Amino acid sequence: MASEEDGGDCPVSSDIQPGDRGSFLCLLCSINVPNRPSLDDHLRGRRHKRMCEERDKRQQQQERSVFVSGFQKGTTEEQLKDVFQSISSVKNIVMDKDRGLYAIVEFENSDGVSATLEEHDIKLEGQQLKVKPREKKEFKKRRAGTRNLQPPDPEALSKELIHCKDWKNKMKSVVTLCSPSRHESHLRELLLSLLKETFTEFFPGCQLHPFGSSVNGFEISGCDLDLYLELGEELNGEKDDVEGAESKEEDVKNDGDGEKVDSLEVEEVQEDEIMETEEKCSDDDENITPGLSLKGLSNEEILNLVDRVLRQCVPGVHGVQTVPSARRPVIRFQHKTSGLRGDITLNNRLALRNSFYLRLCSDLDPRVPQLVYTVRYWARVNQLAGNPLGGGPLLNNYALTLLIIFFLQSRSPVVIPSLCQLREIAAEEDTHVIDSWDCTFPSDPTKIQPSKNEQSLGCLLSEFFFSFFSSLDLRSSIFCPRDGVIITLPFTSAPPSWADGFRLGVFNVQDPFELSHNVCSNVSSKTARRFSSQCISAAKTCRSPLYCLRSLSRPWGIISLLLPNTSEGSKKEGIDISIPLTGTSLKAVTLAVKRVLVEVLLCSCEEDSSLKNEAENTGKGKDEMKRSGDEGEQAVSHMEGLVIGDERSEFKAEELNKDGMKTEPHGRKRENTEEIQNDTKRRKVECTNEDSILEQESIVPGQKEHKKGKKTKGLKELAKENVSLMRINVWHQVWEGRRRQRRGKFGEMTQKIELETAVSRALSSGTIDSKPCKPLMKITVKTKQTNEGNAQLHLTPEMDDYQCSTNFLHFLKSFLPQMVQEILSGDD
Ligand code: UTP
Repeated sequence: MASEEDGGDCPVSSDIQPGDRGSFLCLLCSINVPNRPSLDDHLRGRRHKRMCEERDKRQQQQERSVFVSGFQKGTTEEQLKDVFQSISSVKNIVMDKDRGLYAIVEFENSDGVSATLEEHDIKLEGQQLKVKPREKKEFKKRRAGTRNLQPPDPEALSKELIHCKDWKNKMKSVVTLCSPSRHESHLRELLLSLLKETFTEFFPGCQLHPFGSSVNGFEISGCDLDLYLELGEELNGEKDDVEGAESKEEDVKNDGDGEKVDSLEVEEVQEDEIMETEEKCSDDDENITPGLSLKGLSNEEILNLVDRVLRQCVPGVHGVQTVPSARRPVIRFQHKTSGLRGDITLNNRLALRNSFYLRLCSDLDPRVPQLVYTVRYWARVNQLAGNPLGGGPLLNNYALTLLIIFFLQSRSPVVIPSLCQLREIAAEEDTHVIDSWDCTFPSDPTKIQPSKNEQSLGCLLSEFFFSFFSSLDLRSSIFCPRDGVIITLPFTSAPPSWADGFRLGVFNVQDPFELSHNVCSNVSSKTARRFSSQCISAAKTCRSPLYCLRSLSRPWGIISLLLPNTSEGSKKEGIDISIPLTGTSLKAVTLAVKRVLVEVLLCSCEEDSSLKNEAENTGKGKDEMKRSGDEGEQAVSHMEGLVIGDERSEFKAEELNKDGMKTEPHGRKRENTEEIQNDTKRRKVECTNEDSILEQESIVPGQKEHKKGKKTKGLKELAKENVSLMRINVWHQVWEGRRRQRRGKFGEMTQKIELETAVSRALSSGTIDSKPCKPLMKITVKTKQTNEGNAQLHLTPEMDDYQCSTNFLHFLKSFLPQMVQEILSGDD
């Protein structure tokens, strides 16, 4: 080890550069350390490790991805995915958000890259795509605050959440980790005041109001800055509304912990980060002068004028693009150094008002923001919501938030009252009518009675997925957060007046104010289908035995929901374990292995499907199947009770709504859906494994054969080679926390097998007498004799929905040989 004095002669990584007088510079982290011991500390520290991990991750991403161009503007991620998925499994697609001209396609592994580069004719809608390997870019630390504004990715988020001890803390942490930092909020404020200043100069008397997630209480790091520019000459009798909004805007800014931006952080948020610009006002300067009059200009002309002010006169702004054809014409822009994006709309007082309504909902109950952030994150990782380029086939975040609000209105007792119920307690001054829509609701959340609903967040989250969308026919339902009811289609009586303009789609959510607006009219049928299937999958995760069981080594609780679903199609490698056959037979070792797995570790051996069929064809078999099926049914309901607790699948029934339409209590029994039925059936069958059969017994030479047909033949062949096969279902998480449990049992038991069995039973307490309906994983154990006289075990995970096979197999690697030796030596 080098001494402090000599500055250290030991080679250190290429990230480290020696500096003056024994100091070092870590190029990766841009950090100077004075001497070698400090360097060692730094290299061992979390910050450096995180940077190394990030660099490795980026390198792997680069190796697994290609650069794609040559497609039409407006091409979606989904279209590209369809093309490349046919070559190799696609993990992720990142589009060039500014112009939509190129994309990075990341495959599950690097084979996808070589396979793609070998293809010479990749086309999308007749257009030849250009595909290039990624350029190898050096990984550099980003300057704080610049272009790195986004919530943590799922891996980073799960690393943080794994330390939270309960649901409440986890969901609270999702809010904190996904919200913008104070640094980012400060950047937003600076950008807003810069824009306000410029626009006021050009359009005297105008007002610029932030709306959307900046004010509604659900702001996520990196989200757009939605702005409504109210031009001076439009100010009229409705000015009061906007003044109200202005004061609320101040409230929103000043709330939270009320702290000022920390002076240390301000050091990093330099004004010039916002002001940094190429010289903007150039050629067209003479055409655009402060104090513009808008008299006589059409909306489109005004929009063009605002576009030009933004383009030419706001420092640091680029990528300005006007979309006049949008439902609400919009001007998009980006701030170059901060990476913040913004949308400016005119005439959008409804949006301002609905943002304050969402803010009110967020303030009514602390569970609201926690649920909204979590569901939004889930929808984001599963690419269900948040069209990055504005329009698109996914749900927008506003629509998703309204769905969650609707869900909370439908609990019993309600978590949030419906908008109509809220209106009943609105004060005179809360009355607002915008574009002839009633936008009244109380402004003061403290005037609203706290909810009597005491459901936990975990419970609400699983209900959201489970009793809600997984059982609903989306096409024939309209969710109405104004009344807190679902209208089922077709209308049973004369359609209400708003129905005329309402664009029915595959997913229908009524705007609570602009009643003729379906906020989901853009959603494609593919998205709606994926939304339902992801809800079903999330509901299943919520019911899984590991969902509520804490673990430091595998995803549990909401982490398992927030990680993208990667279990499908990724089959894991197995492991080999070698056990010496000292004076014993392969059969004896195989039986000892079975004993360890079944007796000590509480697994079961699965019967072969052909055997099951055989059993079904005999009367006795049928009876047994029925008995086991009943047990399965009981176990299903037990698990549901266990995990979901006070789950209620029925929505609050409201027979008639305000418009006199018949509405259906939501939550047509989930058991009605095919998916749930199949799931239940499958689990029943899985529950018939009580008297599991050691396949090995049927194939070891000299023993009676149970099986017929193709499978038996395969097994016979294996038997000839003296190979045996067991299929094991693992039911309990017995590999975690053994040491601690074992310590507690020492002294009570002298026999090792007895001790280890007691440890497993203690670890599985609560579930031991009511075996869950679905195993945590299935593994096959292949045993054969090697020329060296060892029993060679190959263990392969076959089903690993909870992604815990790696840990289990790792544990078996040392545990299994020890236990088998113990049994064979006759001590037990
Ligand atoms: P977003 O869907 O962007 O929602 O709509 P958001 O909460 O701001 O989410 P992010 O974080 O920016 O993605 C922005 C606002 O536009 C209005 C609403 O006021 C919403 O808050 N809006 C959107 C509507 O009024 N109607 C719509 O159909 C969509």
